[in-house]
Amino acid sequence: MFNQLDMAPRDPILGLTETFQQDTRPEKVNLSVGVYKDANGKTPVLQSVKRAEERLLKAEATKSYLPMDGSAEYGAAVRELLLGNGHPIVTDGRANTAQTPGGTGGLRVAADFFHRKYPSARLWMSDPTWANHPNVFHAAGIETTNYPYFDAAANQLDYESMRNAFHNIPEGDIVLLHGCCHNPTGADLSIEQWREIGGIVKSRALLPLIDFAYQGFGDGLEQDASGVRAFCEQADNVLVASSFSKNFGLYNERVGALTVIGESSEATAKAHSHIKASIRANYSNPPAHGGGIVATILSDAALRKEWEEELRGMCARIRDMRSLFVDTLKAKGVKRDFSFLIGQRGMFSFSGLTREQVEILREKYAIYIVNSGRINVAGMTESNMDRICSAVAEVLQG
Ligand code: LMR
Repeated sequence: MFNQLDMAPRDPILGLTETFQQDTRPEKVNLSVGVYKDANGKTPVLQSVKRAEERLLKAEATKSYLPMDGSAEYGAAVRELLLGNGHPIVTDGRANTAQTPGGTGGLRVAADFFHRKYPSARLWMSDPTWANHPNVFHAAGIETTNYPYFDAAANQLDYESMRNAFHNIPEGDIVLLHGCCHNPTGADLSIEQWREIGGIVKSRALLPLIDFAYQGFGDGLEQDASGVRAFCEQADNVLVASSFSKNFGLYNERVGALTVIGESSEATAKAHSHIKASIRANYSNPPAHGGGIVATILSDAALRKEWEEELRGMCARIRDMRSLFVDTLKAKGVKRDFSFLIGQRGMFSFSGLTREQVEILREKYAIYIVNSGRINVAGMTESNMDRICSAVAEVLQG
């Protein structure tokens, strides 16, 4: 039965990491998957997380199932982080949250919900987008297409084209947006642009889903949520998939959420009931540990302060690496102006390197970046920077 199958294509991001792990060259550098590395090239467990885990272990009294939509305390903490303390959407009962296994779990639950309840809706993604987005929606049976987002020649957001496209998306279709730190381009909408897109989404009766995986990795927790909040205040119906892999460093605990916002508390309750049904059919109910860590940290003033400091530290290191990358390339005589990388937000830089240049970097220099030219800046350190920049300089000359 299995012998007749073809091998599945390698995943463009995690498949590269598999190849990286098999690479025996000691100087190899992985700048593909979006995982934060500290100055020593390690992905640390945050101190605030360790402390929360100690508390959780002591207090744990059962391993019984969580509800289908997870812990209520976690859901409340997620909504507060997303919308801010005492936001009217929350106090009016217009938001409800399901705890999901990672942000990807949240996206898949949303996808199943869309497919069940809005079977003829197509989903529109930014061009480009996270390489796994199409997989998640196709697996749920949803047809996808793209709206313009990025001007690759100018290395910046192409807002005019995006806005014009939104005016022409058929009523009832689904639009996928990145909450902040757009993956892969690092180019975000301004608050005014978020507001305007929210108004178009409402007037054209579109169904928006926001992928919010990098809150705190751009300009700060509050600033990074401000566009999403402005959007939610315009559009009546919104779904938000949150991930805490990066900002809490909880990658392998798979901690995420799907928050639904409806035009009234009744509408929200109806949508949430279908989200629970999708969860039941998918993985029944979520794992508890990672959500427990996040809820413990967010509900304790001292732990929260410590976490926010640790998050600011990660963010500052990434910003330093952006500047160091640009400066080192210049120092190595690279003529092309890479200063646009400094204005990009989040873990990634969309470098403009071609597929061929990416392959040479991998094969000749053991430097792994995604085929689209996306570089994980959070994987750069002062120790590997010189080697990375020498290789990029040579590849650009060749
Ligand atoms: C990435 O874009 O590299 C991360 O979101 C990790 C992943 O699962 O692809």
